[in-house]
Amino acid sequence: MGVSSSSPVMVPGGVARRRLDQASGLRAAMNPQPSDKVRIQVIAVSSGKGGVGKSNVVANLAVASARQGRKVLVMDADLALGNVDILLGLTPHYTIEDVLSGQRRLEEVLIAGPEGIQILPATSGGQAFTQLTHEQQLLLQSAFLQLASPPDLLLIDCAAGISANVLYFSLVAHETLVVVSPDPTSLTDAYALVKILSTRYHLRTFRMLVNKVKHNQEGKEVFRKFSLVTDRFLTISLDYLGCIPADDYVTMAVAQQRAVCDVYPRAPASRAFTSLVKAVNDWREDLSWQGGFQLFGPAALGATRTVTEG
Ligand SMILES: Nc1ncnc2c1ncn2[C@@H]1O[C@H](COP(=O)(O)OP(=O)(O)O)[C@@H](O)[C@H]1O
Ligand SMILES: [Mg+2]
Repeated sequence: MGVSSSSPVMVPGGVARRRLDQASGLRAAMNPQPSDKVRIQVIAVSSGKGGVGKSNVVANLAVASARQGRKVLVMDADLALGNVDILLGLTPHYTIEDVLSGQRRLEEVLIAGPEGIQILPATSGGQAFTQLTHEQQLLLQSAFLQLASPPDLLLIDCAAGISANVLYFSLVAHETLVVVSPDPTSLTDAYALVKILSTRYHLRTFRMLVNKVKHNQEGKEVFRKFSLVTDRFLTISLDYLGCIPADDYVTMAVAQQRAVCDVYPRAPASRAFTSLVKAVNDWREDLSWQGGFQLFGPAALGATRTVTEG
């Protein structure tokens, strides 16, 4: 499952990520930047197929992480059919649309969720932002860069499918977490996503979470089968984050518009989410912080253009 370190990386975002990884120590030592102080770990959560539980994963990973002391912002990046606010029983006054149209500052649009997490809500039923323009991407980036009190973890709930927005958010994040379920169609759709990101945009590292498993062994088995295929046909590094059991408490929590970690903290799924927090925190050790925040800013711009025009 390894990846050759000499793989060509041609997409500017990918170049930035790889180069910054290599040079960050030296550069940080020589030239401390403001971004040394602003350390936002950015994780794009994608799935290919809808309905695998991606939004639940985002909401619960956010709650579990906040409970363990992290300052979390969830961005609902399903810009046309967002539902993170509904999952958490929140009623937003404004949405990301107001930020993108320049009507509101990001701070005015963020709403508070359980455990102090912040949510950037999306519109539901909107058409305007199914594909962000380059200007809108810039606007969003600068809104994050200007946050007076930035989060230390930004979880992006991407839309299903392989739209330009999904590709864009995957490329500007530090990590792309792919959520699958044991359902074979979820695996083929996730493969399509990973394939396009790796072959067309040269993204090389992915993490995988298997949701709705009967038992831990099933999660490992799904991952093993998926990685057999990616090992054979793609040049990527794919790491297993873990699995979340299919749990009726999740269904009950969804019906109550609460995160399962919030309302049933001892449920099997909640315990599983809690156990993943440490691994997600540990990913930070491999990050180039200096590049990290910039990847959601200037260094991502090349990738932005490539994705929207490619
Ligand atoms: N671990 C789980 N156990 C049981 N049901 C789950 C689990 N995760 C998600 N679900 C159910 O799957 C459905 C889709 O979840 P959602 O998070 O909205 O998916 P997505 O964002 O991938 O479209 C919801 O009805 C939710 O209750
Ligand atoms: Mg969703």
